[in-house]
Amino acid sequence: MSRFNGCDLGTPLVTSDTSVTLSIDGTEITVPAGTTVMRAAALAGVKVPKLCATDSLEPFGSCRLCLVEIDGRKGTPASCTTPVDAGMVVHTQSEKLARLRKGVMELYISDHPLDCLTCAANGDCELQDMAGTVGLRDVRYGYAGANHLDGEKDESNPYFTFDPAKCIVCSRCVRACEETQGTFALTIDGRGFASKVSPSQNEEFMGSECVSCGACVNACPTATLQEKSIIEHGQADHGVTTTCAYCGVGCSFVAEVKGDQVVRMTPAKDGGANEGHSCVKGRFAWGYATHKDRLTKPMIRARISDPWREVSWDEAIAHTASEFRRIQAKYGKDSVGGLVSSRCTNEEGYLVQKMVRAAFGNNNVDTCARVCHSPTGYGLKATLGESAGTQEFRSVAHSDVIIVMGANPTDGHPVFASRMKRRLREGAKLIVIDPRAIDLVDGPHVKATHHLKLRPGTNVAMLSALAHVIVTEGLAKTDYVKERCEDKSFQDWCDWVAKPENSPEAMEAATGVPAKEVREAARLYATGGNGAIYYGLGVTEHSQGSTAVIGIANLAMVTGNVGREGVGVNPLRGQNNVQGSCDMGSFPHELPGYRHISDTTARAQFEAAWDVTLNPEPGLRIPNMFDAALDGSFKGLYVQGEDVAQSDPNVQHVIAALEAMECVVVQDIFLNETAKFAHVFLPGASFLEKDGTFTNAERRISRVRKVMTPLCGYADWEVTQKLAQALGFPMNYRHPSEIMDEIAALTPTFHGVSYEKLDRLGSIQWPCNDEAPDGTPTMHVGHFVRGKGRFMITQYVPTNEKVTRRFPLLLTTGRILSQYNVGAQTRRTSNTQFFERDILEIHPQDAEDRGIRDGDMVGVESRAGRIALPAKITERVQPGVVYTTFHFPESGANVVTTENSDWATNCPEYKVTAVQISLVNHPSEWQEHYAAFSKEQSELLAGRVHQ
Ligand code: SF4
Ligand code: SF4
Ligand code: SF4
Ligand code: FES
Repeated sequence: MSRFNGCDLGTPLVTSDTSVTLSIDGTEITVPAGTTVMRAAALAGVKVPKLCATDSLEPFGSCRLCLVEIDGRKGTPASCTTPVDAGMVVHTQSEKLARLRKGVMELYISDHPLDCLTCAANGDCELQDMAGTVGLRDVRYGYAGANHLDGEKDESNPYFTFDPAKCIVCSRCVRACEETQGTFALTIDGRGFASKVSPSQNEEFMGSECVSCGACVNACPTATLQEKSIIEHGQADHGVTTTCAYCGVGCSFVAEVKGDQVVRMTPAKDGGANEGHSCVKGRFAWGYATHKDRLTKPMIRARISDPWREVSWDEAIAHTASEFRRIQAKYGKDSVGGLVSSRCTNEEGYLVQKMVRAAFGNNNVDTCARVCHSPTGYGLKATLGESAGTQEFRSVAHSDVIIVMGANPTDGHPVFASRMKRRLREGAKLIVIDPRAIDLVDGPHVKATHHLKLRPGTNVAMLSALAHVIVTEGLAKTDYVKERCEDKSFQDWCDWVAKPENSPEAMEAATGVPAKEVREAARLYATGGNGAIYYGLGVTEHSQGSTAVIGIANLAMVTGNVGREGVGVNPLRGQNNVQGSCDMGSFPHELPGYRHISDTTARAQFEAAWDVTLNPEPGLRIPNMFDAALDGSFKGLYVQGEDVAQSDPNVQHVIAALEAMECVVVQDIFLNETAKFAHVFLPGASFLEKDGTFTNAERRISRVRKVMTPLCGYADWEVTQKLAQALGFPMNYRHPSEIMDEIAALTPTFHGVSYEKLDRLGSIQWPCNDEAPDGTPTMHVGHFVRGKGRFMITQYVPTNEKVTRRFPLLLTTGRILSQYNVGAQTRRTSNTQFFERDILEIHPQDAEDRGIRDGDMVGVESRAGRIALPAKITERVQPGVVYTTFHFPESGANVVTTENSDWATNCPEYKVTAVQISLVNHPSEWQEHYAAFSKEQSELLAGRVHQ
């Protein structure tokens, strides 16, 4: 437990319509029925000693320290397991209680090393606190009896140690792993005196099922489970609440700081998205922020074959501005553009798009959402009227049937997955629609009722088949639809979807999923109570990505599953601020708040505020920028915090485009893959070095707070501001709060947002305005944002990416828990101990056909390119499908993905690539070229001319 993370009320919050009033040590307190005496006492300001209880876990009642006396009741009940009763009179202090508690503590301390003064937890240990609370000074039995003091330490985990000598067997860790995380990696092995905590079957933590979420470490009241960073650096002297910079769950953390060094990140108990939970990345993998690879000086060079030259900020900014102006003078105003980062803050994204529109004078601005969730924006806006998910994460606690489609929450969105698993353990039903058996299909105490193991590229066929069953079997919620949706579009859609060609039987040939199972899944979703759909990039990154999102919205509307808790359409966003970067107007056709650039009224507001005339024509999307670069009409690109040379499809095409430009400017914390093709490098600031906000997948705006001074001297927003000024466009913000004030003034869904309100409420889910001053956890309540919900026909059009004799297998891609996207951060942490290289998953049958054994190096060849990866033989993938991650640049996963993209948004079709797999004994030509080029670039960096 962290000292900087709120108080512990002992047992969890209980909600009830009935209240109960009781007296505790003479103080009257009224609490919801079902609350424990311990929690009621804490709320009344009375601290009852405790060890095995904590308010994030269900009470257990094992330590017997929290005994109280209750008038009219015999004995001394444990306050953590005794519910309150009306009129109850409780006494927490008496001579008898003091004696009993002291006796309990004596037993604990007699079997505990007496090294408090040198222990890493000194000052942050509940056992130490309780010894003080009960007034224990000495132990009557001595310390020489049988004990556990020689237990061997388990130091296998890179981030925390387990020292059994300090364990009081309170089970908090075991319960945290079960209740909070849902992994069930820990047990109490043995009985009585011999009982001890054991990961899996008496294994080390690293060899067990443990996923290093840190929940057990957080729950441990002693130094038994202890962060290695605390052992190394000591306890923090202050804490700063901020937001994780990894995924779109947007967990809130307390950065614990000693001097100016972060020594621990603990999940904030009152974090709206995570409520005290975390995953291995946010909790432990923050060391990249001060990694030796950080570049902190601006650098320039004329050609990418030249060594870098460190320059002052003034020179770097002046050079960049003059290059962009030179290019525009020579090739035209539209020959330059900028990329907004979904890793940076809202305020930084807003400034980049403002600089492009106002200072570059065009709309050539785009963001990596182009390559992930742009179909979500399109599909949800067209059907429901707003480009964002409908729920807050808490909502899943009210779901009865959950569809997870094209997403892998336990790896991609782990803290949300823990919430979902809790609900599934309580009895909610699960339908997984995915070509691969993700962990949720069959995990500890969680099993999918249906796993619709469809072929990659057939989502739309599947969604139409599900809708067909609902419509033709009379399962549509017609009252809901009549009241809330367009009549005509519903009728047209019904007529179309009811056609036999959309039936599960007709679609079986395409999807490969037995019609019977599709019918059963459709019935379950339509009739099983609150139905919620969670989906990810397995839905959007297809040539029909937008159609699939529309299909999901159709399903939710026809079953009445939008507009209340427990239901909805929920895109699981990838990056920490991908929602925010979209909200901030990072697309070439949209101003902040999703208003089209051709909308004269919206444009006029921005023109007045920015004192500039804006171009009404949408600018270039990322792929169009690359095409234009190869055509010779696009010559300058400012890339803030993106790595297109690794993350975008058909990397060889991207690289050729970068090489064709005259000025590529990369602003990043590391010399990433794209920076190897850059002419200007502007050092970036990590999330620990700046103020701002991120917006997560549930539209939750949370504060990012500066914990340390930017290593390069400036936060990213300051650099953009300097560049805009050098280009002759005035920007004079003194703090990101002023940027947020401008965003709020110009964006209707943000009208009520301010730093003051964020500090007061903790976080805010937009829309936040006069109608919803504290934000909007659930959208479309009562009516859809667009007025009436619109059904749209989702004709299945098979992708052009078909298997052939030459490329007989389908490659699909995804992420793993311990690594994050292009891996620039996680590869620079001990997370590499969990996963150190990309591998290719292949079904045993396909492996056998090709003579491939586990671990063999195999070539993966598509029409776009060829790479080599080690093979892992597994039945997680179905025959005909192979799978890989894309976390390591040297693998070049995106060398093989193609330029196919979504018809509406150009989102690349990462998830379907026809490939051939064959045994090889050396890296591919591209990989060899990459290794040589990277070596050359490392040498150019090492040989840079210092300032
Ligand atoms: S770190 Fe998380 S997964 Fe591992 S044992 Fe602890 S609670 Fe369980
Ligand atoms: S490791 Fe910590 S939380 Fe787990 S039983 Fe021991 S003292 Fe309790
Ligand atoms: S779930 Fe996402 S936001 Fe939360 S700690 Fe993990 S990476 Fe960070
Ligand atoms: S805190 Fe109540 S029995 Fe341990």
